[in-house]
Amino acid sequence: MLLNGLMRPTMLHNAGSRLPCKLLPAGRMLTVSAAAGASSAQPQPKHHEHADTPNFPFKRPAADHPPAEYAKLRRECPVAKARMFDGSDVWLITKLKDLKEVLQDNRLSKVRTHPGFPELVPGAKAAIEGREPTFVDMDPPQHTHFRSIFEPGFSKQRVDAMKPSIKQHTTELIDAMKLQRWKGGGDAVDLQENFSLPLAFKVIYQLLGIPFEDYNMLSNNVAVRASGSSTARDAAAAQEQLTRYMDKLVTEKEKHPSKDLISEVVQGHLKNGNTSREQLVAHAFLLLVAGNATVASMINLGVITLLRHPEQLEAVKKDPSLWPSAVAEICRYHTASAYALRRVALQEVHVGGQSIKPGEGLIALNQSANRDEDVFPEPDRFDISRKPNPHVAYGYGTHVCPGEYLSNVELEIAFSGLFERLPGLRLAVPESQIQWSGPDKDVGVAALPVTWKMGKEEQEEMRRKAK
Ligand code: HEM
Repeated sequence: MLLNGLMRPTMLHNAGSRLPCKLLPAGRMLTVSAAAGASSAQPQPKHHEHADTPNFPFKRPAADHPPAEYAKLRRECPVAKARMFDGSDVWLITKLKDLKEVLQDNRLSKVRTHPGFPELVPGAKAAIEGREPTFVDMDPPQHTHFRSIFEPGFSKQRVDAMKPSIKQHTTELIDAMKLQRWKGGGDAVDLQENFSLPLAFKVIYQLLGIPFEDYNMLSNNVAVRASGSSTARDAAAAQEQLTRYMDKLVTEKEKHPSKDLISEVVQGHLKNGNTSREQLVAHAFLLLVAGNATVASMINLGVITLLRHPEQLEAVKKDPSLWPSAVAEICRYHTASAYALRRVALQEVHVGGQSIKPGEGLIALNQSANRDEDVFPEPDRFDISRKPNPHVAYGYGTHVCPGEYLSNVELEIAFSGLFERLPGLRLAVPESQIQWSGPDKDVGVAALPVTWKMGKEEQEEMRRKAK
């Protein structure tokens, strides 16, 4: 249930909803006059002038720092209105408690074709028209039906069984990086291109049953489709090619089933009509593209952050049982998927003392909720021993990321592999030269040049291998 009585003491309110408060351009924030009908026994609210509604997304001030507006909103206007690129208004949810409320509320929809659903970029609505929807854009009960078909592929048992092969992929990629550096005669290797992205892809390929030989073709198309700088035509062509590929793959699994998720769904759900072929292809495609960039980004950001905190890195290297909490803290601190939690109200909903009307959109800002000082003491401090750490980097509620356990396992294996097998791993350029993603995009890096100490043994090994 959504709150009516969860208003913060600093905010004047009555039983109803307050008028929206806003973020002032100068960075000053004013809460706004209280609800109509406040009794005279209550303190009378001051009436402040409304500033212009701020534009969203906000910009990160530098590097990987979250937008400064988030902290101000949490403090003074936790459920605030902002303006999107198309002139529509959206509600921003900035506190963890409110975020959890809205993400469990079935009066808020994830169906992107509903009027008022907030999109982040021009052309997003057009891009989904005529496309087979997947459970990421569905509400229960349809969402529940399709999610339950694919979710078993991400179970703890399944992922635990994949650990040895995730370790093997990690080892192979590290070996390939060593050789590449040796052969190239250079000092730096791009971790993003040679480790973070291929590891993320390899793991999902294995889970879905996609042959590794197709990596180059698929990853190029995925990159073109996802890149903001691709033309609409190139992005559509990449999408088309990927869909055709997935369609062929389903046919192949029908003929020759093996031990992978697509084969299982073909056997267990396609044949009995639980899913149509088109729906299966669309979902296979979703799973192919859903988590790669975020996992890769978290590997890059985790390496940068651990190198910034050498004493914490030493602690986790000495005691590998700390990796799970280190990974949780990296996920909280960075929140690689920061704009995914978008919904539209189907009925009136009250949250944080505000009334969200049918047809109004909201964005639950998990990057802000992950720095909520009511939940995380000193939220801007990176601390791998933080306990508890109830972060929401993977979302929360009905649509919480099904890949959470898999990603955490991948990250643990990736970090421990990198820091164990590449002694003295460090950035090959000063941090100031790292090329960060656009300040209003998900936090990430374009590339991550790294280097490490190459001992005599490694040199010998490389000499042998390079022959
Ligand atoms: C560090 C890595 C990852 C992060 C930070 C992340 C983050 C998220 C978030 C925040 C959501 C919630 C969206 C919402 O509520 O609207 C989500 C959903 C989802 N994620 Fe992930 N994810 C990661 C990795 C993965 C991986 C490896 C997969 C595997 C294919 C995956 C597949 C999905 C899918 C299919 C959904 C939609 C769930 C639904 O709508 O029920 N994610 N993810």
